[in-house]
Amino acid sequence: MKHIFYNKTKLVSFKKKIIVSGDKSISIRWVLFSSLAKGISTAKNLLLSEDVLAAISSIKKLGLKVKVSKKKCLIYGKGIDGFTYKKNITIDAKNSGTLSRLILGLLVNSPYKIKLVGDQSLSKRDFNRVAIPLSKFGAKIKLNKKKGLPLTIQGTNNLQAINYFENKGSAQCKSAIIFAGLRTNGTTLINAKKSRNHTELLCKYLKLPLRISNKKNIDLIKINKANYIKPLNYKIPSDISSSAFFMVLTALSNNSQLLIRNVNINPSRTGVITILKKMGIKINFKNVKNYKGELISDIFIRSPKKIKSINCPKKLNSKAIDEFLVIFLVAAKASGISSFKGLSELNQKESPRLFWGAKILNLMGIKTETTEDSIRIFGNPNLEIKKKIIIKNYLKDHRVFMTSVIASLSFGGNWEIHDKDSINTSFPKFLEIINDFKK
Ligand code: S3P
Repeated sequence: MKHIFYNKTKLVSFKKKIIVSGDKSISIRWVLFSSLAKGISTAKNLLLSEDVLAAISSIKKLGLKVKVSKKKCLIYGKGIDGFTYKKNITIDAKNSGTLSRLILGLLVNSPYKIKLVGDQSLSKRDFNRVAIPLSKFGAKIKLNKKKGLPLTIQGTNNLQAINYFENKGSAQCKSAIIFAGLRTNGTTLINAKKSRNHTELLCKYLKLPLRISNKKNIDLIKINKANYIKPLNYKIPSDISSSAFFMVLTALSNNSQLLIRNVNINPSRTGVITILKKMGIKINFKNVKNYKGELISDIFIRSPKKIKSINCPKKLNSKAIDEFLVIFLVAAKASGISSFKGLSELNQKESPRLFWGAKILNLMGIKTETTEDSIRIFGNPNLEIKKKIIIKNYLKDHRVFMTSVIASLSFGGNWEIHDKDSINTSFPKFLEIINDFKK
């Protein structure tokens, strides 16, 4: 039974300062950029979760030496064309959508066929979204029958620059094309619906040939071939997506306050803060700094007297895409009906999250109305759970697990939450920090 988390404890008020783990998106990008650099790249506070460890194993398969320790991680880069390809290699991206999509952009010139596999959840996800544009560069990509994994990719040394319209607001698709563009003669042109921009900021910091002009909701990105990438020494800031669970815990408590230190507050990621503020939660940034193009800050949050319902503007969707499950818990305690629309991408994640969001709320006794891309949540400010709730068979989606834990601590009830190991995907220290709140 060691994979099940049981909880019957509702938290009382708290005043705390915490540090959450390193940012997953930036950690994976650090590994991939460093694999192309010439020389030794060093990272401190790299997130050592399964997704990032899978990125490290993948570049090792491509011939790179890596040293990992808790204090720092070193990648011995051999330059942009420094991968040593062996025949018949398989790269295992485990649960990571980000790794699996981005690395395909790096493999568009592989001389041999490479197989890409992943776990049960990743294998179900849509890879056509990257296979179609990457094929236009000239790579040959074969997907399994259901458009997912396993897939094979065989590159070409005759890559053609492409024009690509990214219309889902997917940073993974955009970043895969940026990586392919960095390998390709000519100018690759991307019209991208706005999404997280860590890849672009790292390109800028590394002085790579990428230019961006912004239109209202679209970024126009031009990329040229890069011949040299300098080593990337980086101190990874904390992850706002991991912080979000504790922001919500505070929002759902009484008389509580929390300071979360040194969090990446890139404006393309702060949708959760905008949404919580609109719902009446008081949040401030303290000690805002710019680090290599990324904004970093301490986040101070206080529990509100009353939570307001929200009609969530669609323009916040991509900025909060990983946080909606836990945001739905706040809507469960709001006075009134909250509405979230245009969220079809939520069902493309590690599990169909619109479905799981509604399912958790319904088990908690909250009424919801869902369509394929929207949810209405009928809040109950006096919600108090008394019954037993079992959460299982959710494709080990780390965010379903962590959301359920936050719900149990906030609303009471007798929770049995399976697959506790799922946290290792993004936030192995999650339960350790939670236990500290119970003291
Ligand atoms: C990520 C992009 C988002 C997000 C994922 C991480 C990234 O996915 O959900 O957790 O690091 O680029 P999409 O690009 O599919 O929206």
